[in-house]
Amino acid sequence: MIKVLFVCLGNICRSPLAEAIFNHKINQKGLKSAVIADSSGTSNYHIGEAPDPRTIEIAEKNNIKIHHFGQQFKKKHADEFDYLVAMDASNRQNMIREIGSEPDFLYQMRTFDDIGKGGDVPDPYYGGADGFQKMYEILDRSCENLLQFIIKKHHLQ
Ligand code: 4NP
Repeated sequence: MIKVLFVCLGNICRSPLAEAIFNHKINQKGLKSAVIADSSGTSNYHIGEAPDPRTIEIAEKNNIKIHHFGQQFKKKHADEFDYLVAMDASNRQNMIREIGSEPDFLYQMRTFDDIGKGGDVPDPYYGGADGFQKMYEILDRSCENLLQFIIKKHHLQ
């Protein structure tokens, strides 16, 4: 099983939505027995909490099932997962600090976005509904390309 962990700050907006979209695409492509995604946050702010209601709303609007409880990113995750995917440069730095080194399987989400490539997935927490819509679009594009990258790399299709 190829395991992918999406990581943001609070684990209630960006990374649980990335997890949900990615798992949706895995199911659509019949890859459920080969790839699985989970998510975590570098902070301890929302451990055990459900995703932000605005995240649930944008997921449901797009027919994406979202079920997650907040967990904090820990060093052990670098041993458990094959791909670590940070939502922004600050999350990435926090992950490197927690792990104590920079694994070669640590990526930044928008490396896989063909629009705005390499930038951050903006944190929508303190903004309005348009931020959640934009987050959805970025994550949908990036998840599709990340999954294609994994499919090619592991000869899954
Ligand atoms: P996320 O958004 O990292 O995408 O889950 C945030 C959620 C909560 C907070 C910050 C960012 N917070 O400061 O509580």
